[in-house]
Amino acid sequence: MIIREIHKNEYKELSYIHLESFKDFFLSNLGKSFLYAYYRACLNSQETIAFCSINSQNELQGFCVGCTESKGFHKRLLIKNIFVFLFQGIIILFTKPKAILRLAKNLDKKTDKKDNGLYAELLSIGVSSSIKGTGVGKELINRFEEEAKERLCKKIALTTDYYSNENVISFYEKMGYKVFYEFTTYPNRRMYKLIKEL
Ligand SMILES: CC(C)(COP(=O)(O)OP(=O)(O)OC[C@H]1O[C@@H](n2cnc3c(N)ncnc32)[C@H](O)[C@@H]1OP(=O)(O)O)[C@@H](O)C(=O)NCCC(=O)NCCS
Repeated sequence: MIIREIHKNEYKELSYIHLESFKDFFLSNLGKSFLYAYYRACLNSQETIAFCSINSQNELQGFCVGCTESKGFHKRLLIKNIFVFLFQGIIILFTKPKAILRLAKNLDKKTDKKDNGLYAELLSIGVSSSIKGTGVGKELINRFEEEAKERLCKKIALTTDYYSNENVISFYEKMGYKVFYEFTTYPNRRMYKLIKEL
């Protein structure tokens, strides 16, 4: 298994794996065009940490993407890429109007008084269904954590679904993540925020 950084121009390949591993999730339902824009912006940000697993044909099979400082990351991304996201916003407004409200309300996922957002955040991790359970997710998180440490991050947090998500939660628990708190995002999605001290 080869784990390496994701190149800036690999936002499409990254989006394909996202679509495959997050079927019927909110971001996936916004469509390929939005995912391209989102991951392209992430990969262009200095704050982003992004690794992938590739096979012998150099094809992406898994990915993890996160940022060094959770607090305000998505707002900074939006401001830096304002025209790209305005354009995407207009498309979504016509095709999925309710999603705009949800995007706006969930821009900042800080939802608990004890949460100051001063930690790195693992925003997304997914592996192709054909290689699930073969240790790729674990290696991706390990590399993400090493890089976060090198960039002087002290903690990593992430959010994950509360209901019907036992497998993913046990995966994170095995990787040393603990429940920080529970919260509900708009419109009514119960979530866990997990955290790990590095
Ligand atoms: C979650 C995910 C990234 C895990 O990646 P993976 O490559 O399948 O996991 P690994 O093979 O590296 O497993 C690492 C450890 O977690 C455990 N684990 C993995 N999947 C598990 C499951 N479904 N149930 C229980 N434990 C699990 C493994 O047993 C392993 O433990 P070990 O080191 O003691 O053997 C992958 O299943 C995935 O892409 N899921 C869909 C996308 C998703 O939900 N992402 C998270 C969103 S918050």
